[in-house]
Amino acid sequence: MINPVEIAWEFSSPATLEDEAPAPVLLVGICDDGKPALIAPLEGSETETKIAALVQAAGFEAKRGQVQIVTSNADGLPGTLVLVGLGKRDRLDRLAVERGFAQAARKLRGGEFPAVAALPALGGEDLAEAIGPIIDGFVLGGYQCATYLPESRIKEAKPVEKVVIIVQGEIDELQRLAGIAQALADGANLARDLTNAPGADLTPPTFAEEVAKLAGPAGVQAEVWKVKRIAAHDMHLLLAVGQGSAEEPRVVKLSYKPEQRTSKTVVLVGKGITFDTGGIDLKRNPESIVGMKGDKGGAAAVIATLLACTKIKPACKVIGIIPMAENSISNKAIKPGDVFPSASGKSVEVADTDAEGRLILADALAYARSLEPDCIIDLATLTGSCMVGLGPQVAGLFCNDDGLAESVLMASDIAGERLWPLPLEILYRPELESEVADLRNIGERYGDAIHAALFLHEAVGDTPWAHLDIAGPAWLDSASASYPEGATGYGVRLLGNFLLGIE
Ligand code: BES
Ligand code: MN
Ligand code: ZN
Repeated sequence: MINPVEIAWEFSSPATLEDEAPAPVLLVGICDDGKPALIAPLEGSETETKIAALVQAAGFEAKRGQVQIVTSNADGLPGTLVLVGLGKRDRLDRLAVERGFAQAARKLRGGEFPAVAALPALGGEDLAEAIGPIIDGFVLGGYQCATYLPESRIKEAKPVEKVVIIVQGEIDELQRLAGIAQALADGANLARDLTNAPGADLTPPTFAEEVAKLAGPAGVQAEVWKVKRIAAHDMHLLLAVGQGSAEEPRVVKLSYKPEQRTSKTVVLVGKGITFDTGGIDLKRNPESIVGMKGDKGGAAAVIATLLACTKIKPACKVIGIIPMAENSISNKAIKPGDVFPSASGKSVEVADTDAEGRLILADALAYARSLEPDCIIDLATLTGSCMVGLGPQVAGLFCNDDGLAESVLMASDIAGERLWPLPLEILYRPELESEVADLRNIGERYGDAIHAALFLHEAVGDTPWAHLDIAGPAWLDSASASYPEGATGYGVRLLGNFLLGIE
C-alpha cells in the first residue's frame, strides 16, 4: 500500500475520564433523542447527562451523517467534543457507527488533531463490537488514493495519529481485537488501492507481479500462472476473454496455512478484469465504461484478505484463486457466437462478449472445485442487473448450501457490509441452453444476475459455494460524507470475519 493509515490504538478506562482527559478531543456518538449512545458503565452516568446538555446547547440534531465540533468547559470532559450523529437509537448498528466515525475522522484530518479519544456507542460485553466500528471508521475514513497526488495534498489529508478508546476490558484482549480490526481495515484500504489503480497501470501481468511482491512479506505463498500453465489447466474461457488484449491473462494462486493442524480448507475466488470495455459487444454508454477499472474489485478483495491472514490467523487453510484478464477490443478479440471448451469440461457459446466475468470465473471455480475444499466463496463485480435489483450499497448472495449462506450472512453483519440473498432459480436454467454448445453465457433480458449465478453454478456442482455479486457496493460513484469516491474495499472485512468464524 502506498499511503497506509497508521493509527496507534490505546485504551483507557472510563473511570479515569472524570479525573484526566485522555486526549484534548473526544468523539461521542449521539442519537436523535438528543442523548449520547454509551455503553456500561458510562450509560446512565453523570457523563451522559453532561454530554446531553452540550448536545442540547449546540442544537445538534444527531441525524445519521451529521458531525459537529463543539467546545465544552464542563468538568470531567475534554475541551473539545466531536458530536457524531447516529440517528435513531433503535436502528443503531455497526455500520451507522462506522460511517459516523469515518466522517468525523475525515473532518479531523490535516494534522490539527493528532490525538483524540473516542467513546464506544455499541457493544457492552462484546468488546469486538465496541471497538471494531470505531477502528473501521478511522482507518477507512482516513483513506486517500494517493498514488498520483502531490505531497501537499497528501499532507492536507493526514489522518489522526492516535486514538484512545475509552472502554473497560483487559488490555491484551483489547489490543488483540484492535489488531484484527486494523488488519482487515488496512486490507480494505489495500483492496481500494488495487481497485482504484488505472487499467494502464495494473494489467494482468503487472497486477500479478504486484501481488506476488506483496505476498512474500505477508507470509503467503504465491504462484503466478502464465498462458502455458493456464492452458494446461484447460482454462480456455480465461484465455478467450484475454485474447483481444495485448496484455496476456494470468492466474494468481495464493495459499495461507495456519500454524496449528487443520482439516478445513476455504477457497476464495475473485474476478480480476483489469479493464472491461465490453469487448466486441462494446459498452455503448460512456457512463458505464468509465468506472471499469473497478472490475477487479472482487480480485482485490480476495487478495487483500489472503494478505491479511497471517495477521488475523484464521484456523483453516485459505487458498485464493484470482483469474486476471483485460476484456479488450481488437482484431484478435473473441466474437459473439464463438465457442470454447472450459476447465469444467463444458463447452460455452459466447453470446455476449460483455458477459466476460462469468467466463473467467467459471474456469477459476472449476479449478477451485478440483481442490476439494470445504467451501468456495467468489466475489465479483458481475452484473448491472444485481445493481438494478439491490441498488448501489447491497451485494447479492447466491448460495447452494443453507449452512454456508447463514455463516456468510453472519459475517456480513459483523463487517457492516450489506448482503442480501437472491435465488439460484431453476426456472431460468433453460435460458442458458445453447444450440451449438453445452452452455450459453447469457439468458433472456430480465434476471441476468440470476443467469450469471446459474452459469457459475455449473462449474462448482455440489461443492458448498457462495457467490457474491458486488457490482454495486464495490464502487462509490461520488464521494459520500464518510468515504471518497471510487473503490470501497467491499468484501475484505466480510471474508475476514467469515474465516475467523471457522473452527
Ligand atoms: N463488469 C460488468 C458488470 C458491472 C456493471 C460491474 C456495472 C460494475 C458496474 C460485467 O462484465 C458486465 O458487463 N455485465 C453485463 C452483462 C450483460 C452483457 C449480460 C451487464 O451487467 O450489463
Ligand atoms: Mn462486461
Ligand atoms: Zn465485467
